[in-house]
Amino acid sequence: MPDSCSLAAYKRISGYIVAEKSIAGLSAGKTNQKMRKLENKTVFITGGLSGIGKACAIAAAREGANVAIADRKSDAAAATMSEIKKDNPSAIFIECDVAVYQQVQDTVQKVIKKFGTLDVALNNAGIGGEAAKVGDMTDEAWHKVIGVNLNGVFHCMKHELMQMAKQKSGVIINMSSILGKVGFATSSHYVAAKHGVLGLTKAAALEYATEGIRINAICPGFIETPLLTEAGITDNSEAGKYIVSLHPMGRLGKSEEIAAGFIFLATADSSFMTGTALEIDGGFLVR
Ligand SMILES: NC(=O)c1ccc[n+]([C@@H]2O[C@H](COP(=O)([O-])OP(=O)(O)OC[C@H]3O[C@@H](n4cnc5c(N)ncnc54)[C@H](O)[C@@H]3O)[C@@H](O)[C@H]2O)c1
Repeated sequence: MPDSCSLAAYKRISGYIVAEKSIAGLSAGKTNQKMRKLENKTVFITGGLSGIGKACAIAAAREGANVAIADRKSDAAAATMSEIKKDNPSAIFIECDVAVYQQVQDTVQKVIKKFGTLDVALNNAGIGGEAAKVGDMTDEAWHKVIGVNLNGVFHCMKHELMQMAKQKSGVIINMSSILGKVGFATSSHYVAAKHGVLGLTKAAALEYATEGIRINAICPGFIETPLLTEAGITDNSEAGKYIVSLHPMGRLGKSEEIAAGFIFLATADSSFMTGTALEIDGGFLVR
């Protein structure tokens, strides 16, 4: 436990009720009483029915958030939502294709109508796309990935920021990738979209830095999710072994490891961070 001098300095520097309350709890000897970091906050997550988005939704609900999931139509929606609701029954699902501007506008409006505010947004919905060299890529394959992975993030940010600017508060986290930082053969659409997401993140972070709104991105390495399985990257496949070998830690990541970074960026723990890209990649980008 910090001595009283450093405690006072910490309080002065942090200026955050969360930090002050945790310290107060510590000094009262209440070390077992966990502060929930997103109590009553509205957390909007796109692509929250599967993989990384689902893990982030569960983590946010556990931290006390009212979670709103926007995702494509899915037979799994009811089962996934009841899993998320175990941690906070207020969670809602809205069917939405993020590639369609009007659907995103309507969805964000529904979230605000239901919960009154929009405090945290995780723009996570994404697809892998067909593998092809640029010269062999069809126009359709290109536009499909750009439509979801880049235009979708713009659609969401635009409507989220309109609300957050009114509130003069908010946090946005965009799901980029290690492939937002380096190339990857046969995935030019995905690589271009994820680089674009980092560009959007940086430009918007500058625009809203003095308006109480923080905007950051996460760059995961390869994570065990249905997105990888559907691309044929499984534990025992040749592709799977190759992908694992690109990570110095010698394994794929887990969705919960990305969710931990999401909670960090969503809360006052990262209060002096905006425009950054948090790499959670088992060392992939160090090489
Ligand atoms: N899995 C990885 O290795 C990895 C690595 C880096 C980045 N990412 C990124 O993380 C995000 C989540 O990926 P994941 O691995 O959890 O994949 P996933 O396939 O498990 O989940 C993606 C979710 O997005 C939804 N979605 C797809 N298109 C949509 C659309 N047009 N509108 C609304 N929802 C849509 C899907 O229905 C699904 O629920 C994606 O942006 C992906 O590019 C994944």
